[in-house]
Amino acid sequence: MQNLAVIGAQWGDEGKGKIVDLLCENFDVVARYQGGHNAGHTVKFGEKHFSLRLIPSGILHPDKLCILGNGMVIDPEALLDEIEQLRGLGVTIESNLKISDSAHVILPYHRALDLAREEAAGNAKIGTTGRGIGPAYETKVSRYGIRVADLLDPDVLREKIDFACAEKNPVLQGVYGKPTHDPKKLFDDYTRFGEVLADRITNGTVLINEQIRGGKRLMFEGAQGTLLDIDHGTYPFVTSSSTIVGGICTGLGVAPKHIHHVTGVAKAYTTRVGGGAFPTELEAAPGEHLRKRGNEYGTVTGRPRRTGWLDLAILRTAAMLNGIDSIALTKLDVLDEFEEIPVCTEYNVHGERWQTFPAFAVEHHDYKPVYRTFKGWNSPTAGITSYDELPAAAKDYVRFIEDETECAVSIISTGPRREETIERRARR
Ligand code: IMP
Repeated sequence: MQNLAVIGAQWGDEGKGKIVDLLCENFDVVARYQGGHNAGHTVKFGEKHFSLRLIPSGILHPDKLCILGNGMVIDPEALLDEIEQLRGLGVTIESNLKISDSAHVILPYHRALDLAREEAAGNAKIGTTGRGIGPAYETKVSRYGIRVADLLDPDVLREKIDFACAEKNPVLQGVYGKPTHDPKKLFDDYTRFGEVLADRITNGTVLINEQIRGGKRLMFEGAQGTLLDIDHGTYPFVTSSSTIVGGICTGLGVAPKHIHHVTGVAKAYTTRVGGGAFPTELEAAPGEHLRKRGNEYGTVTGRPRRTGWLDLAILRTAAMLNGIDSIALTKLDVLDEFEEIPVCTEYNVHGERWQTFPAFAVEHHDYKPVYRTFKGWNSPTAGITSYDELPAAAKDYVRFIEDETECAVSIISTGPRREETIERRARR
């Protein structure tokens, strides 16, 4: 029996949604363990196009049980919208979607604080998705958060909302000059959300461990990426949760021995949204070409993504932090029209060679990426489904990634659709 973790190896947007969807048929349960509706997974097959934010991509397969884990922060309004939208596209969402009662709830004051802080920070802003993710995790850690179970208990909910408003309203108004939130209205709205979601709310930890004991196969779906991890990422330009494999244990209540295989999803180049270090960033024409050809605009916010060449220091770091067993390399076809393709193999930092990406104080170092330049294949790989059909130069590129990361590239994605994929190893 093999349970699989699918983790972003860069700064998110690596194409995890497609990979989870592709591998899903081998699993019974798909669970998310962190983040909220800051995530944006896109899955395309046939003529259909699904955008997922909170709900695991496994939901597109009606026989999979999908779990929103306790490590997530959930905006009930966004969740209900997503359920409605997916149902409108013919997706079955009945008892196949469960929510951990210990997940934390995002309320409108979290969103307001997120936006107000970003506005006040000016050039120092993080570039968040503005969904209230950071403030909701702050409230969780402060131990005054509202958990999903609280939506079902009117007395507790009223008390917690009153307490939160008494604290957040003066900050919103006094510090940021923003409107306040009416606790009575919040109580009414969130009681209603609780009523609508009640059948889905369960002890997520018990549920998932029952599945494990019952011999079911589990997939753990990561959101964002390794370098957005709160501890190991490019702090403070990170998200507020543990995006790496370790987050699965706390974010779902699953012991490490139940995580059997880790697939790191990496784009064939690099992108990031928001602020923060990006050593291989391209500002001129090649960056724009990657953005256009790769359609590098945020699924959640529509923001243009920053683009750059592949960075092996990042992939080595991701392999180290997550214990990556295999890599799913996505968007190889986006590189189809380059004469030359540089790859960053390490950094030169004041004459020292750095082979990994240190989370600490990257901003204060003078990073010089050291590149090895590959000959571009300059021919179409889009839609190719067999490794043998790839041009020799593309195979060299893939082999180099394998050698440098010491991880097998088991999947290569050559287009956004489910069918546009090369699978090199037997599925686990
Ligand atoms: P937050 O998660 O909204 O607080 O945003 C913090 C940082 O994480 C910002 O740089 C966001 O752009 C980034 N981020 C959050 N979610 C995603 C994602 O799903 N893909 C890529 N970047 C993300």
